[in-house]
Amino acid sequence: MTSGQATAPSTDPIAGSAVYPRGSRVNEAGHLEIGGCDAVELAREFGTPCYVYAPDDIRARARQFTAALSDRDADGEVLFASKAAPVTAIYAIAREEGLSVDVASGGELHTALRAGFDPERVYMHGNNKSEAELAFAFESRVGCIVVDSLDEVARADALLAERGGGQDVLIRLTPGIKPSTHSYVQTGQVDSKFGFGLADGQAAEAVAAVESAANLRLAGFHAHIGSQIFELEPYVRAIEALAEFAASMRPRLLNVGGGLGIAYTSGDEPPSIDEYVGVKVDGVRRLFGDVPRILIEPGRSLVGNAGVTLYTVGTVKEIPGVRSYVAVDGGMSDNLRPMLYGSRYEALIADRAAAAADSRVTIAGKHCESGDVLVTDAELADPKPGDVLVTPATGAYGYAMANNYNGIPRPPVIFCSGGDARVVVRRETYEDLTARDVTDD
Ligand SMILES: Cc1ncc(COP(=O)(O)O)c(C=O)c1O
Repeated sequence: MTSGQATAPSTDPIAGSAVYPRGSRVNEAGHLEIGGCDAVELAREFGTPCYVYAPDDIRARARQFTAALSDRDADGEVLFASKAAPVTAIYAIAREEGLSVDVASGGELHTALRAGFDPERVYMHGNNKSEAELAFAFESRVGCIVVDSLDEVARADALLAERGGGQDVLIRLTPGIKPSTHSYVQTGQVDSKFGFGLADGQAAEAVAAVESAANLRLAGFHAHIGSQIFELEPYVRAIEALAEFAASMRPRLLNVGGGLGIAYTSGDEPPSIDEYVGVKVDGVRRLFGDVPRILIEPGRSLVGNAGVTLYTVGTVKEIPGVRSYVAVDGGMSDNLRPMLYGSRYEALIADRAAAAADSRVTIAGKHCESGDVLVTDAELADPKPGDVLVTPATGAYGYAMANNYNGIPRPPVIFCSGGDARVVVRRETYEDLTARDVTDD
């Protein structure tokens, strides 16, 4: 899986790119290389589409988060927001790097525990946890649940009364902050399905409800204002809103959420992990003093740029005077984000990774929707059927949102490190697609 005989190109458009996994480059064969593995060979060996991660990159980012806390002598914890990439092997990396974990469902809790997470390090989220999910969390003895409604407070207390034993809880607050990002991933505004509002008295009611619940212990508060955010100032405003409400209660834990944006294209310039953590730590210290333990909950910024998706080009269709469509063997089933949010991606022909892009094309998937377009007006180097096409920055919310539309089996997940590639999630099979169907015979 390592590079060929010739020498690598003198100008490498990939090495040092913020969009690709760290350590990626153009190898001597002129192919894209990730984690020391040739992407064209990976496509041949594992088939396409496939998700390819550089696990060393995930580790490096996890270390940057923890170092940003320890460099500031902050009493803090980094939680992997596992909704971004709920892969057992990625949970395992988070655990090995000393992170805690945010799970948002019984399924994510199951996977975190399967990956060996100490239940004490698990924070259970969700705006509508079922009784079964709450029971699973209590049975597993998770460290904290993040309560999101008065119904949940009553439900959790009643379940704990039946089972015996208390539970630490954080109350999720809605600080009334609207960062600039897609409206579907804004979560801290007044009109939100998440959390308890500060201005309307709901948050005070939640505190009273938790404090009077015999089996719940109020450990602190949580706020997450949204995702793919480039500005730092909304985090400061959110912490100010939290402090106005909660500083006098001297919470033991303060979870200030995730949300750090990533570079999807080379023009994107998100803040660094250090700047982002710094703003949060400084804000909490200024307004709460050194009392609460600070919890930071990144998802996308841990895994997004550590992964790419490989496809094979199947057809190239020119509509004269209109546009050219390059169709690949995946699409909205492995990456829903372009359809969901109009998200922009870059793309590259892995076989000619250093070649000048000479064609403007639209990269379409293979699904039965005209909106199944991965990249509009991508610049590619002479794309042809059989080429391996790569979309970088697909490590977050790609696998997580994958689906079987049109009966497409979900792709495998491959880890590449030091020139070795290994499957950490196998490709779904046609048999998998019908395995849950109940028939008469
Ligand atoms: C409660 C909570 N915490 C953390 C995250 C992670 O956000 P991001 O992936 O933007 O860091 C999310 C994402 O939706 C979330 O809902």
